[in-house]
Amino acid sequence: MGYKDQIDFLKLPQHIAIIMDGNGRWAKEKGKLRVFGHRNGVLSVRDVVEGAGDIGIKYITLYTFSSENWNRPKLEVSAIMELMISTIHKEINNFMKNNVRLNAIGDLKMLPEKCYRELMGAINKTSVNTGIVLTLALSYSSRRELVQAAKNIACKVQKGELDIADIDEETFENNLYTSGMPNPELLIRTSGEYRISNYLLWQIAYAELYFTPKLWPDFRREDLFEAIIDYQKRERRFGMISEQLN
Ligand code: FPP
Repeated sequence: MGYKDQIDFLKLPQHIAIIMDGNGRWAKEKGKLRVFGHRNGVLSVRDVVEGAGDIGIKYITLYTFSSENWNRPKLEVSAIMELMISTIHKEINNFMKNNVRLNAIGDLKMLPEKCYRELMGAINKTSVNTGIVLTLALSYSSRRELVQAAKNIACKVQKGELDIADIDEETFENNLYTSGMPNPELLIRTSGEYRISNYLLWQIAYAELYFTPKLWPDFRREDLFEAIIDYQKRERRFGMISEQLN
């Protein structure tokens, strides 16, 4: 029996977030340049997004490029940006065929002009789709997102549009890049690293964490299904005790 047959479709997470890690090490193991790992990482993205959409996951959010990644060697940064442009361009027909709606979060204005245009074009074109929402976190920093949310809220207070006494968790949620999306119930990180790396810090407050030693270019839909099965075996208590849950 494959992993897909073991999934309980009544207990699917709505939103899965993934830290795609290990592209560089994967390439190095094969005696290749790091960009070879990123290129193969794209094949994993395609398979995982298709697999997730196929079983009815509503949202998938991929940590594609962090704000800190701008500090990598220039050559690697431009190779990733080029890869993004060509991937989005090539994948658009697949997105339309598979009913995928593309979305992006992060400091998108930092992206090279061509990348930004390609991304916005694809987001516009796929906005009519009603299937899985694929969010790319690009030039993303969770701390900056929180600082930005605080600034937006302060601005509303200053203009007299919002009373300090009315600021609550929902106010914060509504001012994050992810406003309108459910919070991820499952966060996956590949490559055997046990870190969150400034990713969706607010949103993963109650997410189940799943770490796998597999490097991202080796991760496929079967691995995603395995992670979902593991998630479904966990008891999510949200601070309560077991007996209260039934
Ligand atoms: C992490 O591996 C990977 C990245 C920083 C880039 C991920 C980008 C892609 C897979 C391309 C995706 C493109 C689209 C359009 C979704 P790493 O380089 O940090 O690996 P290492 O830890 O082994 O060095």
